[in-house]
Amino acid sequence: MATPVSSLNQLVSQATGLFKQMFGDEAKIAACAPGRVNLIGEHTDYNEGYVLPMALHLVTVVVGSAASSGHLATIVTASEHADEPRRVDLRLPNEGFSQSPGMPDEGFPLSPGLPYWANYVRGVIHHYRAHPLPGFRAVVVSSVPLGAGLSSSASLEVAFYTFLQQLKPDDGHKIPKAIACQQAEHTHAGVPCGIMDQLVSVLGMEGHALLIDCRSLESIPIPLTDPGLVFLITNSNVKHSLASSQYALRRAQCENAASILGKPSLRDATMNDLEESRDHLDDVTYRRACHVIGEINRTVKAAESLKKGAYQEFGKIMVESHNSLRDLYEVSCKELDDLVTAAMEVAGVFGSRMTGGGFGGCTITLLKAQVIDRTIQHIQERYSGTPAFYVATPSEGARALKRS
Ligand code: GLA
Repeated sequence: MATPVSSLNQLVSQATGLFKQMFGDEAKIAACAPGRVNLIGEHTDYNEGYVLPMALHLVTVVVGSAASSGHLATIVTASEHADEPRRVDLRLPNEGFSQSPGMPDEGFPLSPGLPYWANYVRGVIHHYRAHPLPGFRAVVVSSVPLGAGLSSSASLEVAFYTFLQQLKPDDGHKIPKAIACQQAEHTHAGVPCGIMDQLVSVLGMEGHALLIDCRSLESIPIPLTDPGLVFLITNSNVKHSLASSQYALRRAQCENAASILGKPSLRDATMNDLEESRDHLDDVTYRRACHVIGEINRTVKAAESLKKGAYQEFGKIMVESHNSLRDLYEVSCKELDDLVTAAMEVAGVFGSRMTGGGFGGCTITLLKAQVIDRTIQHIQERYSGTPAFYVATPSEGARALKRS
């Protein structure tokens, strides 16, 4: 059985109920933005390559209202991991920055600080593209599992940005919006991520994955409407602490490889270029570049296979991608490898691979719809931990929600 997920309506009523309870008032605006799963194209976005993600039915919802206190923002979040809703008060950068009575000292208004979760919000306010903002109160809830590699942070950033657009509209342009949210992650969460997560959370299309060129930022919708086919997400429910330091290290190794090859980025390099320069690269740098160049090629091929309905071929490329992430890029871990091995043992499974940054989180598996129960059962029997399962439903990107 797939893990139960709150519907969008349930999340909105949870958030509006909490708003009423906290502030004694009705929330007048609401917005949501999805998490994502990447089908293939891992660690290629910050190398200006291709990615093939879809936006999910797992979403973050933000509800709230403008407040009379012109320079204050109060944000409350509820999560299943905390007994009590957590609250933070921020001073907006548009009024005098004087300390207000009873407010915790945040230091410089929107610099990163504690609590850590509020850094995403601080970052989005900081990079928002239409200041000054009015004061506001907001409540955030989410069905995207935290730290599972399904972009809970991008969905929070993009949902929050979409909420701010209802308070004080910007120009409505979608790509600069995704870039602003990516900047928030760089400057306030300290993760030098690529653009994939924020872009698909903004641009997601119901019934489609998106083939995104992370250099031009153009995207091509790839229909996923075959009822005989399922993409299944399996959450290993482990997250190794190495994840963010190793992410930054991988990014630096790629930049170093590109500069040794004399290319602006690894997107511009071919396998031939790499072989010709092999003597100038140490083994680790060579293997990192080999993964990225191979993965960019695989992603374009995989999108073609999906368009043609060549699922065997797509599945084979998924497994090649996993092996490359495990052996060359070294971002997998035993739990993810075990989940992929278990999935591949079931007849009717086309392919499986780790998805997202790695070091824990999820796998994505392509299979025939009729074998889903058997696949879930087999993985449960074979995996030593407690996995969670989600059927990946290609969904719409961020949007404002009507309040009646
Ligand atoms: C994380 C980052 C993305 C991307 C993936 C790996 O999700 O946020 O930008 O680099 O890892 O593909």
